[in-house]
Amino acid sequence: MFHLRAEAPGDGPAIEQLLDRAFGPERRAKASYALRDGVPAVAELARVAVTADGGRLVGTVRYWPIAVGEDAALLLGPLGVEPARRGRGIGRALLRASLAAVRARAVLLVGDPAYYGPLGFAPAPPTTIMPGEDPARLLVDAAGPPPPAGTLRPWPAGARATPTGAAAAAE
Ligand SMILES: CC(C)(COP(=O)(O)OP(=O)(O)OC[C@H]1O[C@@H](n2cnc3c(N)ncnc32)[C@H](O)[C@@H]1OP(=O)(O)O)[C@@H](O)C(=O)NCCC(=O)NCCS
Repeated sequence: MFHLRAEAPGDGPAIEQLLDRAFGPERRAKASYALRDGVPAVAELARVAVTADGGRLVGTVRYWPIAVGEDAALLLGPLGVEPARRGRGIGRALLRASLAAVRARAVLLVGDPAYYGPLGFAPAPPTTIMPGEDPARLLVDAAGPPPPAGTLRPWPAGARATPTGAAAAAE
């Protein structure tokens, strides 16, 4: 059994270790990491799954603000579940609970369509471009707004993200 809660400030090291086990340490070479480098995650959307006694962190999901063309969107991920705890609905629960808190922004992710398709994600339109990735792996939450057209880029330094996860440029 598990339950979900908001990510807490002290969860960082356990999340990094879990992601190393879930994806392997080479995960940092992925193109999506270049979009996150030096940019804080959207704290309000980050969720973790913990064991029923609260003692062990077994799942994580985070979101990053990204620029797409002249607009903004959210990049979902990494979504990771402890290898020994997979297949029990933790990934799906993290995805649904965190998406419920997103307001008025397109949510994109780079991932396996076979997993994310049944959870409501569809291929992004060809006008939305993720450099360095197989275009078939760029997906969008079909329940949200369509993604802006353009190339995904890191969120500019000095810009800020609002509590709803909607990104807004600084004045
Ligand atoms: C992908 C991941 C987050 C799923 O977490 P989880 O807690 O096991 O997911 P759930 O229990 O909610 O869903 C499990 C279901 O998804 C399926 N599934 C898992 N990964 C899948 C994939 N890559 N393709 C298709 N189906 C997949 C399982 O077979 C299972 O199906 P079932 O419910 O019919 O038995 C987890 O496996 C993980 O951390 N993987 C490492 C990263 C990775 O490989 N990601 C690939 C997607 S980007």
